[in-house]
Amino acid sequence: MSASIPFDRAAHFYDSTRGFPPGIAEQAVSTIVEAGGLDGSSHLLEIGIGTGRIALPLARYVRQIDGVDLSLPMLERLRSKRAGEAVRVVRGDIMTLPFSAAAFDAVVAVHIFHLVGSPQRALAEAARVLKPGGLLIHAFGSGTHQFRLHDVWADISGRFAGADGSTPWAKRTTVAEDHGWRLVRERTFDYRHAHTPRQYIQQVRDRCWSNTWGMSDEALAEGIRRLEAHVSAHYADPDAVEDVPARFVARAYQPA
Ligand SMILES: C[S@@+](CC[C@H](N)C(=O)[O-])C[C@H]1O[C@@H](n2cnc3c(N)ncnc32)[C@H](O)[C@@H]1O
Repeated sequence: MSASIPFDRAAHFYDSTRGFPPGIAEQAVSTIVEAGGLDGSSHLLEIGIGTGRIALPLARYVRQIDGVDLSLPMLERLRSKRAGEAVRVVRGDIMTLPFSAAAFDAVVAVHIFHLVGSPQRALAEAARVLKPGGLLIHAFGSGTHQFRLHDVWADISGRFAGADGSTPWAKRTTVAEDHGWRLVRERTFDYRHAHTPRQYIQQVRDRCWSNTWGMSDEALAEGIRRLEAHVSAHYADPDAVEDVPARFVARAYQPA
């Protein structure tokens, strides 16, 4: 089983590379509220809460959000942005959650299952801390994941041993149902995201994406060469801004 991937090294650039375009976060988190049937009485846990990209805008719809993350620098970032939101954080591992059983109305999981060695174990822990009738809300960027080249890069980097976490990128969206959880509701939100292919290549070169962190310098250079070849073959101008359709998906599940 490979280990989890903490985001210490990403804390200072996470929000600028993963953040939603201006004005979009509110609408994205409302898909979580609707999928989970959440209201002002709901007490949530976000596993892998990171910098609070999701939890901080989500907090105004619910009573309380607790969050757990392995990375202190990511949690420090969250604390520095917090402005009175009912969001409490603790450093910990989602594989052994520091909470008692049946403590939460819902567990929120966004871009986390591909980073842990055993999604099955993380799901079992989520089930343990859910109250009876509680829901897991698994949310993620789908399709282009904002960046059209992201799936291309995931495919290229996946060919290098040690480049990735345990769950293949393409499988990350179906983790819950693959482990027997029952889909209750899905809500989606479509928006657009502008960027250039060259900006994306630079993010790979800067090792912004976690699937670059296990790559040697040589493997990264070879991967970038292949990515650039893909861009040359498919884009007339790598500096032209693409207005890419992006989708945020929130799915609510009952435990297996
Ligand atoms: C891609 S970020 C997602 C953060 C947040 N959910 C969001 O959507 O912006 C993944 C986060 O999970 C954390 N993480 C990875 N493995 C973990 C584990 N086993 N336990 C707790 N946190 C973990 C990382 O440190 C990182 O902050």
